[in-house]
Amino acid sequence: MPLSQRWTLTRYLIEERRRFPSASGDLNALILDISLACKAIARIVSFGTLGDSLTPQVTAVGGDVNVQGEVQKPLDVLSNEIFMRMNEWNGHLAGMASEEMEAPHQIPANYPRGKYLLTFDPLDGSSNIDVNVSVGSVFSILRAPKELIDSGREVTVDDFLQPGAEQVAAGYAIYGPVTMLVLTVGNGVAGFTLNHNLGEFVLTHPNLRVPADTHEFAINSSNSRFWEPPVKRYVDECLAGKTGPRGRDFNMRWIASMVAEAHRILMRGGVFMYPRDTKDPAKPGRLRLLYEANPIGFVMEQAGGRASTGRQPVLGVKPSSLHQRIGLVFGSKNEVERIERYHHEPA
Ligand code: AHG
Ligand code: MN
Ligand code: MN
Ligand code: MN
Repeated sequence: MPLSQRWTLTRYLIEERRRFPSASGDLNALILDISLACKAIARIVSFGTLGDSLTPQVTAVGGDVNVQGEVQKPLDVLSNEIFMRMNEWNGHLAGMASEEMEAPHQIPANYPRGKYLLTFDPLDGSSNIDVNVSVGSVFSILRAPKELIDSGREVTVDDFLQPGAEQVAAGYAIYGPVTMLVLTVGNGVAGFTLNHNLGEFVLTHPNLRVPADTHEFAINSSNSRFWEPPVKRYVDECLAGKTGPRGRDFNMRWIASMVAEAHRILMRGGVFMYPRDTKDPAKPGRLRLLYEANPIGFVMEQAGGRASTGRQPVLGVKPSSLHQRIGLVFGSKNEVERIERYHHEPA
């Protein structure tokens, strides 16, 4: 298709806004600033080790332990900075929260505040960065409580503790062989590919749908000794293949980068599991609810897939803390429902 006929992200957002004649355009402007942050991160990621000549800070930061107990990579820190700096000035946010920051980020007093809250994982899968495997950024937009907007007080953790069903928009950028932005504003899921010549995200995958059935599952099976019985049962049945209860062979994948797994599943179906397990009683699950599970869950549901804790839809969970971890299963609807059924059946 000639470039002149393709929609840019800007056009997609404007066409979406036309469905709501009274909308102010603030959400669109915010999403465009987020997309700019993703473009900046894509560029730095694509330079790899050579990035140190362009941005000396690439090698000058990192090495600290974040609130998750993980050693931060230089690009974790830099991506977090980019997200904050490119979104704090625009007057659309009343606060931000990130995987890399223990407490919410206050909008600096010299900038106006707005009606949304932003949570993000600035660089997902960052353990893969040194080995040149796809990584990404994940974001979620919530409405700021009215009382926060009216009072002008500092944003608190409580303001962010909203179920995923309250998200206004969510999505991710994937920095792979091509950079893509995948977005939902609550009306299906659209995928945009970064055109480096134009510096624009261009709509290449309108109306993404996750097939209801799949022969592919993704799980870190080195944790199998810690799995709960329903997960063990599901995986055992997949591994049993044609002669087992499922009557067909399954493929297994594990990229160790949730964004990349979510993207594969959006493109061709599949099921992803990072379930609750017994490895560490202090960490019920690996992934974080507010900036990993909820945005990916919203995208999956909007694409006709399903996202669950194994026991209930993930978007229905009322968060209890900013960095809460949770078991997460998402992807092809029929498989996710099967896994939920196994959790509800007596062992
Ligand atoms: P992050 O790099 O943002 O800390 O997230 C990593 C997550 C996720 O991307 C991935 O699915 C999972 O951690 C990988 O876990 P394992 O190390 O158990 O494979
Ligand atoms: Mn991390
Ligand atoms: Mn992550
Ligand atoms: Mn991360």
